Amino acid sequence: MRAIAEAPAKAIVTGEHFVVHGAWAVAAALPRKVHVTIEPSSRFEVVSDLFGMTGSPELLPVSRVVEAMAREFSEKPNVRVTISSDVPGGAGLGSSAATMVAVASAFSELNSLGLSVPELVDCAMVGERSIHGNPSGIDPAVCAHGGVILFRTDTPPKRISFGGTRSLILTYSGLKRSTRGQIGHVSKMKEKYPGMFEMLARGMSELSLRASEMLREGDMRELGTLLTVNHAALMSLGVSNNTLDQIVDVLLSMGSYGAKLTGAGGGGSVLAVAPEGKEKSIVSGLSARGFETFRVKIPVQGVKSWLER
Ligand code: PMV
Repeated sequence: MRAIAEAPAKAIVTGEHFVVHGAWAVAAALPRKVHVTIEPSSRFEVVSDLFGMTGSPELLPVSRVVEAMAREFSEKPNVRVTISSDVPGGAGLGSSAATMVAVASAFSELNSLGLSVPELVDCAMVGERSIHGNPSGIDPAVCAHGGVILFRTDTPPKRISFGGTRSLILTYSGLKRSTRGQIGHVSKMKEKYPGMFEMLARGMSELSLRASEMLREGDMRELGTLLTVNHAALMSLGVSNNTLDQIVDVLLSMGSYGAKLTGAGGGGSVLAVAPEGKEKSIVSGLSARGFETFRVKIPVQGVKSWLER
């Protein structure tokens, strides 16, 4: 018997970094997935299409999640974990969070633990902390819950519901970066300029609340303005770079309503919203400049798991 789980990728719509320091943020699950299979084995082993096999440092967090769950629920950690993913690593699209959530969900399924979504998020956080240091938890929360969420560290996530779908454009800069390093940089900025940081975090928290209303109402034009303002705030923190700023600028000059880096910055991806009639030409324009760009429809379902005999 084996357990299978699938968890979606994610994009942070507004409020990254500031969310680590207590601000509201908005995140959406995306229609790209990490797929995990867990089956009993004579010892713990893990194989991944992106990161090789047991012993590879990128896979250490997977063993942390399995070990912690085995200890907590008195189950055997001797399992074979197989991971396949269509979420690029280091692209700010939540490949690690989706992996940790899917591992927690498949391990729960295999051992009939019946864990709730918040409990799966707690288990996934063991792996996330070992990768990122002091993450806010927004990534595993949105990968597990799915849909679009309004998130703050001290409150259970609130689902932003709307009828129909909303469309987002994602452009991968091609530059990988470390979330841990970026979070560290922001903490230093906060220490150096506490007054300015506090004001900016308050502003971005308000901006996220407003963005959640615009998503609910489908006002993509106003949402776009908020995205661009959020990008400017992230630039001022020093987590953007020339490539990301240029991608944002090209997206705007091609007629997007707005654009910003998404995730930790320093590389990774840019998120944009655009008038429906312009989306196709924007995607081909960015692709022609050599940046992998795709359009996605949200909302998307969160993690799911099942058993196969
Ligand atoms: O690792 P990423 O690119 O998905 O970024 C995570 C978002 C941050 O706000 C930068 C960190 C966090 O834990 O919230």
